[in-house]
Amino acid sequence: MGNLSDMKVSAILSALMATALITVVHAAPSKPPSGIDDDGDALQRLVINYNHTTAAAIVAEYNNALHNSNLRSNSIKAAAPVVSKDILPYCVALSPIKPVRIKIYKNQQTCDVNGFRTLWVFTAHNKKDKHHAATPACIGSASSQDSHQLFPERSECTGSIWKQEFVFYMSGKYGAENPAVGGVRETTERWIADNEKRMLMYPYYDGKIHWWTDGYQVGYRSRWRLASDREMTILRAELPKHAAVNNGVSVVPPPNAATQWCAQDLVAAYNWGAIVSTPNTVPGTVHPYFQSDATRDECAHLVPKSFIRMARVNVDGFIPVEIMIDNKVHAAVSIKADTPIIAAYVRIALQESLRTGAPLPVVVDPAQSDLIITVVAGTIAVIGGSAAYQHPI
Ligand SMILES: *[C@@H]1O[C@H](CO)[C@@H](O)[C@H](O)[C@H]1NC(C)=O
Repeated sequence: MGNLSDMKVSAILSALMATALITVVHAAPSKPPSGIDDDGDALQRLVINYNHTTAAAIVAEYNNALHNSNLRSNSIKAAAPVVSKDILPYCVALSPIKPVRIKIYKNQQTCDVNGFRTLWVFTAHNKKDKHHAATPACIGSASSQDSHQLFPERSECTGSIWKQEFVFYMSGKYGAENPAVGGVRETTERWIADNEKRMLMYPYYDGKIHWWTDGYQVGYRSRWRLASDREMTILRAELPKHAAVNNGVSVVPPPNAATQWCAQDLVAAYNWGAIVSTPNTVPGTVHPYFQSDATRDECAHLVPKSFIRMARVNVDGFIPVEIMIDNKVHAAVSIKADTPIIAAYVRIALQESLRTGAPLPVVVDPAQSDLIITVVAGTIAVIGGSAAYQHPI
């Protein structure tokens, strides 16, 4: 497996989280505030000033480089990305007023609406998926108080002051769900305050410390936040190499449910801390869980046809990683070879490639190893751990 094991990485992450926790404890108020949390300013500082103009220019440059290269064959040039309609982005926006609250906007990658600001984004199943996302969560709005509430394990939530906005399906297994449910997921705690009038959901945020209650682990598929100016600059410098690699990669949507399930499971099998530049094709069974996940997900027949292909081409040290079933690529990323990178974040980039039907460029930030910078369906996104969310720079 990789040079940098995931165990080493999780040790580093635990250390980082312990540091973050100590900081938060010191900042906590010494007595309970009178019904009002005091963390509004701290949360406002975590909102990224995403420069839409610069982002659009960088994405246009990248798309131009992707589509104009001579390396690209005509057949690949004709293919347009097919973005999933079953798995959608949900944009979490922070209120401009205190006490703070969030709203969740369906099928949006940014959500600066009526003074609310984009805080972070998660993707989740929009339809029930019996193996990967079987449990509904209902989002209701209350116009009287300009807030949303998440009602877990409910498929409707109109009533009292609430009007149902939408339902999504939480990833992973809940309560008494049978062994047929499992699959990939990230989680974040949902917190509430003032008798459900306000809610908060932010990765690595410990609501208890700020007097929020009823923490509930919401499972979803992947998450990211918007990129800062500094992060955009780092991405931009490397994008021409990624375009040259991704020119020759054609991501196609899985043709049926079984292939979709196995492609997700194969993404979960990716576990290298760095990719060597030597071409290598590895069977999915390299990961001990892939076979059992595939059996659970009714795609065991695809296991012998499932491979992770690395470094098929090499452009000045940049190489593709391709998730392949039956000789078709269903997800791909481009990466700088021989560079330490946290496998968990590459997996999320691969999930987003599978969802959006396009290869993702994965760029390492030399100043912050706890995140990667990428492009998700035209948005410049940062995928990462506690440092990415607690101390964005
Ligand atoms: C975005 O970046 C451009 C180009 O650097 C700059 O002119 C503009 O003021 C920035 N916009 C915001 C809202 O910061």
